[in-house]
Amino acid sequence: MGPGLSTGPPGIGRVRRVSGPLVEVEGLPGVAVAELIGLGDLGLPAEVVAIRGGTISVQAYEYTGGLAVGDPATALGRPLSVRLAPDLLGGVFDGLLRPLTDAPVWLVPGPDRRVRAGTWQWRPGVVTGASVPEGSVLGALPGDGGVDYRILVPAGITGPVEFVAPPGAYGVDDVLVVVAGTPVRLATDWPVRRPRPVRRRIDAAAPLVTGQRVLDAVFPVALGSSTAVPGGFGTGKTMLLQQIAKWCTADVIVYVGCGERGNEMAEVLAELAALSDPRTGRRLADRTVIIANTSNMPMMARETSIYTGVTVAEHFRDMGYDTVVIADSTSRWAEGLREFASRSGALPAEEGYPATLASALAAFYERAGRVVTLAGAEGSVTIIGAVSPPGGDTTEPVTAHTQRFVRGVWSLDRDLAYSRHYPAVSWAGSFSRDADSLGAWYATNGDVGWGGRRAALMSLLAQADRLADLAELVGAGSLPDHERVALLAGRLIREAVLQQNSLSSNDAHCAAPKTAALIDSVLAVVERCQQLVGLGVPAARIEEADFSALLRAAAEVTPEDALGVTVRRDKVLAVLAGLR
Ligand SMILES: Nc1ncnc2c1ncn2[C@@H]1O[C@H](COP(=O)(O)OP(=O)(O)OP(=O)(O)O)[C@@H](O)[C@H]1O
Ligand SMILES: [Mg+2]
Repeated sequence: MGPGLSTGPPGIGRVRRVSGPLVEVEGLPGVAVAELIGLGDLGLPAEVVAIRGGTISVQAYEYTGGLAVGDPATALGRPLSVRLAPDLLGGVFDGLLRPLTDAPVWLVPGPDRRVRAGTWQWRPGVVTGASVPEGSVLGALPGDGGVDYRILVPAGITGPVEFVAPPGAYGVDDVLVVVAGTPVRLATDWPVRRPRPVRRRIDAAAPLVTGQRVLDAVFPVALGSSTAVPGGFGTGKTMLLQQIAKWCTADVIVYVGCGERGNEMAEVLAELAALSDPRTGRRLADRTVIIANTSNMPMMARETSIYTGVTVAEHFRDMGYDTVVIADSTSRWAEGLREFASRSGALPAEEGYPATLASALAAFYERAGRVVTLAGAEGSVTIIGAVSPPGGDTTEPVTAHTQRFVRGVWSLDRDLAYSRHYPAVSWAGSFSRDADSLGAWYATNGDVGWGGRRAALMSLLAQADRLADLAELVGAGSLPDHERVALLAGRLIREAVLQQNSLSSNDAHCAAPKTAALIDSVLAVVERCQQLVGLGVPAARIEEADFSALLRAAAEVTPEDALGVTVRRDKVLAVLAGLR
């Protein structure tokens, strides 16, 4: 997709009409759809979206105030691209990857971003004369966050290494290596709408562990998979995604804040800056890339931001890393599409969205995947996108189309959120198409119980839901004892396993062994209760035991301390034994 990278010298045309982000330009014969145009003397970035005779419609990615009819419009002969460089890690950028930390974006107009000034320590990995295949690693720039930035042979280039810069400090314009006549520098440009090439896609196998029990144990996501998080206003989407950004097991995290409140983005930044990385003890921010298009920034830059985010993730995937793109929220992104469609006079499809909504969503989610890179390494891009359906109506177009393109859905339930059951992931309304393959992965990677645990939880929850409906009609007291215990089981699972308070210092995330131990202890308690009822102990007496306190205590053992959970499980069982 998209035109070639160069179509000759730039042409200069004129602005003919300006309507917000929609600008009409004339006098540019030969431009192609998706080509980058610089508008006005400042060169505001814009992309060709339609060509009708001599009139070219472009979508401007910046505020067009001050742009006048007759201003120059420069065809730049290349598609909308972003500059990929080692300053990405630990940085904060707008939708076109221009740094937001140095100066406000409106002071640095123009389509080309400046790479943060500075030098990086180069550690060559090849010698002159070696023959290198495309995509292979030429050397690395060690990163602060334990993620080395690897310099790769560009796609399409193979051959002898003709020059290697000696180890030392280099800046962004220095040539590090020359391969078959092609200079390779620190920075490389890539068109955001074009997926980066790979050798082949492979099936997802291993889990992306999120640290959230309800996800890791019941609705797991695989590395290279994709999940949508639909949830009405205030149901906890942002909190959940931020928890995942902090604790998940990806090497590189790309957090795309799309049209969210500026103060929320500021919070994410402040929290990340303060967090130490559980892997390295250094700053977690050093292996995170933040792309921010808050609600007060130009609407159209939102449109590119999700593609920019996935391009950055693919770039690190190609270095052999597992990456995750977290987008909050794709509904705000779709608003950008809708606003532009209404101005361009395109025939609206459902609810004012352009007819291209579905393909635009597919073009994002389909870039998730686990791959063999051009050089033969393995890497992955996992995509997690929040959707905020207006009024919680999940049949609205953005939610409905998104569900077609993802492998999992974590549906946030308003009633759960109102009763402060967080994360408010609905067990009845969520699914994971990765669960079976991940069950097989866990079985061969040291946790044969994973699949059985998940099945037990799901069946107990479904049974408890059914009985809760019945209890509402007839009163819980009139249910037979074994059904009252089944209701109790549902409550124990919800309170001890599914709920997890992001604000608690020791339960905000839960390591996989602790999750497994905790679920095993809850299941053992449930089984014991069922046995007691079978022995004739009245359900009322069992219900009196203070399970929540005991289980809460069980949840608060130190991470990884599976033994602690086991000891406390015995305590719980001892209390139950006393009931006889
Ligand atoms: N996991 C959690 N633990 C504790 N509190 C939570 C959790 N999730 C949500 N909350 C509470 O719910 C509030 C709203 O959450 P959040 O901002 O994440 O919702 P949202 O779905 O992103 O909302 P919006 O639709 O406005 O974007 C939080 O401020 C917090 O008080
Ligand atoms: Mg939010």
